[in-house]
Order: sequence, then C-alpha cells, then structure tokens
Amino acid sequence: MIAIGSDHAGFPLKQEIKQFLDEQGVEYLDVGCFEPVSCDYPDIAEALCAKITAGECDKGLLFCGTGIGISMAANKVKGIRAACCDDYFSAKYTRLHNDANVLCMGGRVVGPGEACEIVNVFLNTGFEGGKHARRVEKIAALEEK
Ligand code: RB5
Repeated sequence: MIAIGSDHAGFPLKQEIKQFLDEQGVEYLDVGCFEPVSCDYPDIAEALCAKITAGECDKGLLFCGTGIGISMAANKVKGIRAACCDDYFSAKYTRLHNDANVLCMGGRVVGPGEACEIVNVFLNTGFEGGKHARRVEKIAALEEK
C-alpha cells in the first residue's frame, strides 16, 4: 500500500496520479486534501509520514505547488527520506542510491504525462544497497544528533 497526499496546489496533479495508479492496479491511501481548497502542506506531509512510520504504507507520494515545501516538511519526520524529483533520472536514482521512501513533485512544475513516468520508476526501482546502505545509515545517524 502506498500513501498519497497533496495541498491545494498539488491537488490536480494528485488526481491525475490517482487515475494512473488505478490503471496500474496500485493500491493507495489518500490522506488529503480532498478538495482544492487552500490548506497547509506541512499538515499533509505529517499525515502521510505517519502512515509510513506506523508501517501502514511503505512509500508515499506528495504534491504541492513546487514539491519543495512539502518535501522539507516530510524530511523533518524521523525515518522519512523524501526526495523532490521533477525528472525521471532523479526519481530512479533516489531509489537506487538514497532508498527514498517519499517522492515529492510540484503540481505547478511537472505535467501529468511526465509525472506518471516519474511515479512509475520511483515505485518500481529497488535500493541498490552496498556502499549506499552505509550512506543511508549515516543519514539516519544524523537524526539522533
Ligand atoms: C501554495 O501556494 C504553495 O506555496 C505550496 O503548494 C508549495 O509550493 C510550497 O512549497
């Protein structure tokens, strides 16, 4: 199960991605917002990250206007590695090298067709491990300082 969420600015792209996930047969849990009415992206990030840290969902997709604010908020949560990726290469390598568990995108930045490709590679690429595991462990160690 994956979690998905957006603020008002990311809402239209989230709707497009939900349709794509339906077509792919990917199950998701939408944590809001549920209508394109102004709301605060940190609240959405917090709700989505809680699903991951509770073990209810293993990955998350977050959308705001730029993808930046919502990724900043998500990265404050222990155990969350959120990557703001507006291109395919970054989304692929943040899975291979960073074991990112949350993908963030800007609804005002990326078009729906490209966004679906980015989501697809993020959800279907594994972590490479090896030397990258050591580096991800060092990210976790920073959370304890
Ligand atoms: C909302 O207008 C906008 O600031 C927000 O969606 C996001 O882009 C912040 O980083």
